[in-house]
Amino acid sequence: MATGNALAASTESAPTTTASTAALDVRGLTAGYGSLAVIHDVSFSVGRGEIVGLLGRNGAGKTTTLMAIAGFLGGYGGEVLVDGRALTGPAHRRSRGPVGIVLEGRSVFPSLTVRQNLGLAQADVDEALGLFPELTPKLPLRAGLLSGGEQQMLALARTVGRHPSVLLIDELSFGLAPAVSERILERLRAVAEATAVAVLLVEQHLHFAASVVDRALIMNEGVVRAELPGPELASREQEVERIYLGGPDAVVAPT
Ligand SMILES: Nc1ncnc2c1ncn2[C@@H]1O[C@H](COP(=O)(O)OP(=O)(O)OP(=O)(O)O)[C@@H](O)[C@H]1O
Ligand SMILES: [Mg+2]
Repeated sequence: MATGNALAASTESAPTTTASTAALDVRGLTAGYGSLAVIHDVSFSVGRGEIVGLLGRNGAGKTTTLMAIAGFLGGYGGEVLVDGRALTGPAHRRSRGPVGIVLEGRSVFPSLTVRQNLGLAQADVDEALGLFPELTPKLPLRAGLLSGGEQQMLALARTVGRHPSVLLIDELSFGLAPAVSERILERLRAVAEATAVAVLLVEQHLHFAASVVDRALIMNEGVVRAELPGPELASREQEVERIYLGGPDAVVAPT
């Protein structure tokens, strides 16, 4: 595992000597704000076309993990590899390249049309509309006039349309009715299968994640405490809740 301030370095992506088959490989990542480390020694990988959930309650460190991967935060240790190459540039280079990020709330320009939003993101419009056909009739509309769910789809389409290897998503279900969230998650599954993008999905609500993720990482106090297959999330809800809350018996036994 590499040590040192790899995330804060300002060089472009550099080949790594360590082979990796995963699209996203996070190794021993420690990061935070100022001198305060909030996430500690976080390691996991996401394969192509896979959706991995990062779950935990408020303040667990989920958003901090996404921001550190995306390069918005200085890291204190560890490294992030995408397609086997170490990411070492600042956020603006990463997010234009192999890493796409959709943050909580809606990352769209409300006063611009849907078409302009896609164009500004340099998204492949035909591909974006193929993945999110609901947006086709809305192309001439200002994005601010779309429903919350449609705006979330536009935010995804803008990012996916730039062909990232890795898609980081924070709280897709934020502020949406459950039925709308579920429809978008179904769409996300189709996107992962069609494009082979590796998805890291931050979610606080276990039941939304359970419907879509292949695997789930459970985070508490900045540490990944457990990993379990997505299909087991619902049936092992009580164990997962214990990890959310922390405590000495907060361990998921392997199946
Ligand atoms: N800009 C910041 N400066 C200092 N501390 C911060 C900052 N942002 C977050 N934190 C702290 O880092 C910890 C983790 O926050 P983070 O936002 O990563 O949690 P989260 O798991 O995304 O929570 P939520 O589900 O509420 O979004 C919290 O204790 C929070 O107070
Ligand atoms: Mg958060």
